Amino acid sequence: MKFIAYNVRDDEIPFVKDWGKQNGIEVDYSTDTLNLDTVSEADGFDGISGLQTIPYDAELFAKMKELGISMLSLRNVGLDNVDLIAAKQNGVTVTNVPAYSPASIAEFAVTLALMVNRKVGYMYNQLHDLGEFHMASDFMGRLMSNSTVGVVGTGRIGREAIKMFAGLGANVIAYDKFPMKDSDLPFKYVDSLDDILDQADVVDLHMPGLPENDHLFDEKAFKRMKDSAILINTARGSIVDTPAMINALKSGEIAGAGIDTLEHESADLQNSRSTAMVEAEDVLELSKMPNVIVTPHSAFHTDEAVKNMVDISLNNLKAKLSGGEVENLAK
Ligand code: NAD
Ligand code: COI
Repeated sequence: MKFIAYNVRDDEIPFVKDWGKQNGIEVDYSTDTLNLDTVSEADGFDGISGLQTIPYDAELFAKMKELGISMLSLRNVGLDNVDLIAAKQNGVTVTNVPAYSPASIAEFAVTLALMVNRKVGYMYNQLHDLGEFHMASDFMGRLMSNSTVGVVGTGRIGREAIKMFAGLGANVIAYDKFPMKDSDLPFKYVDSLDDILDQADVVDLHMPGLPENDHLFDEKAFKRMKDSAILINTARGSIVDTPAMINALKSGEIAGAGIDTLEHESADLQNSRSTAMVEAEDVLELSKMPNVIVTPHSAFHTDEAVKNMVDISLNNLKAKLSGGEVENLAK
């Protein structure tokens, strides 16, 4: 039995090597993302570990079948980029790692919210890019402890975010399509997304990027949000209509944004070795706005998360390919 892991960053390599040694299984790795051009690198391997937000499409699964590879084990949470029907049709089992470190993403969402509310990005640019000390009145911040935070999606990450925002003294409200029946977390459910838009000073997204959530945040939603509100998106870019958000930021319909997940993330962004210049107009425009912080899909990236992503993904491969019970099957 031997595995190959794609799109492996330098910080993952020691974990991949350690897992291979501890389990007595050969694990090779590639720095390439997985696509039709690169899948031939997996010829002769029994299973693939993958990590990217660019698509795993039908042609890729057909090629995996041709190569006799029956499993794609993701090292991440989101399944929105996987054609699960095509995987099934081609006999490829797909697993993910649903909870490698929910707190890592939640903590990053809180970090972005604090940074946008206290205008830290703007201050940083004045000094680091322009070399100027400013004590400008446009640095006026807002306290999280005086804010209502609206968490959308009370799954694994949303629940961690609720605890953290509440710990900072915020009044936390939340909306979920499938609310928890019982919870002793410090928040109150509201009945609809509109309630969040009407009431929240910080709107914090933690739902999946499924087709039904596509552009949930559109022109109408931005008009409904408070003019003083900020949007934090560490979930998926597809949830937000980016041109509508840019217009809302420009026209003052919302006050700011912290964006870790971009719509149409490029192959460069997902390539572990890329230091490519940003070319996408919308990203460039957002990155120049003083009230916006854009980060390169990095909310997950902590030491705890990286180890768990590698170990659990490889454990899933081992379990399936040695005929054992497989956890984390993608549905
Ligand atoms: P989860 O499945 O535990 O929770 C998602 C919750 O969202 C569920 O309770 C679901 O009912 C709810 N939901 C779905 N659609 C909704 C809607 N329209 N309105 C309200 N609630 C809705 O998932 P999770 O582990 O909390 O992860 C959430 C998402 O975070 C992932 O799907 C992924 O896209 C994203 N993520 C991002 C990073 C990053 O680095 N930026 C890392 C990991 C995960
Ligand atoms: C996820 O785990 O779903 C993420 O968004 C992390 C990313 C590295 C793909």
